[in-house]
Amino acid sequence: MEIASFLLGSVALVIQLFAKQSEIADIAKTTIELENDLSLPLPKTYDFIIVGAGTAGCLLAGRLSEKFSVLLLEAGGSPPPAAAVPFFSGTVGSDPDINYFFNTVDMTYGGVATVHTGKMLGGSGSHNDLVHNRGSPKDYDNIARLLNDSSWEYENVMEFFKKTETWQGTQHGEEDLSRYYGTDGPIVVQSVEFPILPIWFAAGRELGFKIGDPNGYQTESFQPSNTPTRNGQRSSTYAEFVKPYENTRENLTVVRYANVSEVLLNANNEAYGVAYTRHGHPQISYASKEVIVSAGVFSTPLLLMKSGIGPIETLEAAEGATRLAQPLGHNPFATDSKPGRSADRVFLCCPGQTTEQRKGIQLVFNITETQAFQTNFKLTYGQVPSPGCLDFPSDEYWRCHIHNEIKTWIHMVGSASLGPDSGDATTSVLDTRFRVRGVKALRVVDASVYPEVPNGNLNAPVMLAAEKAAAIILEDWDASGPPPEDNGGGFTGPNLLMSIIVTALAMLHL
Ligand SMILES: Cc1cc2nc3c(=O)[nH]c(=O)nc-3n(C[C@H](O)[C@H](O)[C@H](O)COP(=O)(O)OP(=O)(O)OC[C@H]3O[C@@H](n4cnc5c(N)ncnc54)[C@H](O)[C@@H]3O)c2cc1C
Ligand SMILES: *[C@@H]1O[C@H](CO)[C@@H](O)[C@H](O)[C@H]1NC(C)=O
Ligand SMILES: *[C@@H]1O[C@H](CO)[C@@H](O)[C@H](O)[C@H]1NC(C)=O
Ligand SMILES: *[C@@H]1O[C@H](CO)[C@@H](O)[C@H](O)[C@H]1NC(C)=O
Ligand SMILES: *[C@@H]1O[C@H](CO)[C@@H](O)[C@H](O)[C@H]1NC(C)=O
Repeated sequence: MEIASFLLGSVALVIQLFAKQSEIADIAKTTIELENDLSLPLPKTYDFIIVGAGTAGCLLAGRLSEKFSVLLLEAGGSPPPAAAVPFFSGTVGSDPDINYFFNTVDMTYGGVATVHTGKMLGGSGSHNDLVHNRGSPKDYDNIARLLNDSSWEYENVMEFFKKTETWQGTQHGEEDLSRYYGTDGPIVVQSVEFPILPIWFAAGRELGFKIGDPNGYQTESFQPSNTPTRNGQRSSTYAEFVKPYENTRENLTVVRYANVSEVLLNANNEAYGVAYTRHGHPQISYASKEVIVSAGVFSTPLLLMKSGIGPIETLEAAEGATRLAQPLGHNPFATDSKPGRSADRVFLCCPGQTTEQRKGIQLVFNITETQAFQTNFKLTYGQVPSPGCLDFPSDEYWRCHIHNEIKTWIHMVGSASLGPDSGDATTSVLDTRFRVRGVKALRVVDASVYPEVPNGNLNAPVMLAAEKAAAIILEDWDASGPPPEDNGGGFTGPNLLMSIIVTALAMLHL
């Protein structure tokens, strides 16, 4: 125990040192790269600009740069070496140098929740807890129904799940795994063979559950855990889709410490580039095909609003908004969109909502009481009673305990949601092809796009969304076919002087 806390404490120091040194090294690099134009940004043009190198952004950059030139802009730097080691994910995930922290507004039932997301290459996929869980088939059938788009049905998204991964796990369920698992994708998925698995399975059988596989056809069952790891190290979208190609693929340009302040739109509401800073130096880059925002569930809507895209009332209320675009609807996680605040996300809206959690707690107790657990472990309930909660272990006690203890698993979605093509900007930000409604050449691809939270952890669904979006984008820009109707019009960026003015404006209202 003491060795563990000593180790974690030293790792925290090493992470801070690494973060500082990386930033200093990048400042030197930036200065050299910008030597000739420190005062005047010299715009370069790429086919695609991707804002945010998180789980989604890295996967997209990897796929698109196989055919097109891609600029990947990331506000943070490289993940610290400790990020590769699963044991350190808690330490990596809570370090302020490489994470964002967001507080909710006061919640309906009291209190403020804090969430944190990754600020480094790989994003939250570089520090998350490495649970790899696609969710329920019903999630995808439900999304297909919500979007009126059968391509989202479970049977149809399977090819994208498989495309992303190479499965190296051990089968425990009875399913035909070749139907469910990929064999040659970049992300390596392994099953965690804890020594207690046989006892876990025996307990499950005693309670009448089947033994299943977390990423086969998900049903209620007792399962091992799957993790995205390659030889015991984190297999993130940064590690697999970007890092190996960063210095070898001429069409992939990655810029660290690039803080994007605005997506640039021309008079036709067409995105033609982005404004950003590198260590305080204003920069601009042009996209001849599209800008793709993958800045994560909080920063994506913020960036859209800073670019003048969002609900009219919000834009008018925000100080410094210089331009209004379409009155885009949103599916807000955030009701208060001022930078720095987020979300009146109500974890529990009303007392009745604790019923499901109560069942979960009961199931845990039932598991501890199985023959399998009783003969192998001597378990007693050791937690001190929740403060202010009376009559342990009554239902009333557990309701109170749940209100005290409930927290998010950081699976936020829906801040720039997909919606049916029959909808409009008042019903969802995006159409089914991830295009921002009312704006040309601009898409959003990250956790924001899910209209509802999938019934599992989020990283695999975010990879799915990015893999699906990559296929759609490549299809739209297939060199052999005609350019897509909605994104047509070609490159219409303004001249250099104009872009410097726009950059200056963007800087002013940061
Ligand atoms: C602590 C924690 C634990 C988790 N555990 C699990 C787990 O075990 N299993 C699981 O499946 N999921 C887990 N998740 C969820 C999952 O990791 C995330 O949902 C997923 O990584 C989100 O991917 P994303 O692409 O939407 O955003 P992110 O991966 O967060 O990436 C967004 C990127 O954009 C960058 N960015 C933001 N703003 C700008 C800007 N203005 N300019 C330039 N760049 C910008 C950020 O720095 C970041 O790198 C966890 C999440 C957290 C936070
Ligand atoms: C780089 O991208 C361009 C399109 O901008 C494409 O024509 C070219 O083939 C790509 N080069 C490579 C080596 O993939
Ligand atoms: C736990 O066990 C009790 C007693 O057998 C049973 O009534 C209850 O349904 C079980 N609950 C769960 C969630 O499994
Ligand atoms: C759903 O899509 C079909 C075409 O695929 C269309 O005919 C139908 O009108 C759509 N329904 C709704 C409610 O959007
Ligand atoms: C990016 O710029 C904004 C606005 O100045 C600032 O609030 C934010 O902290 C910056 N983010 C990073 C990662 O530097």
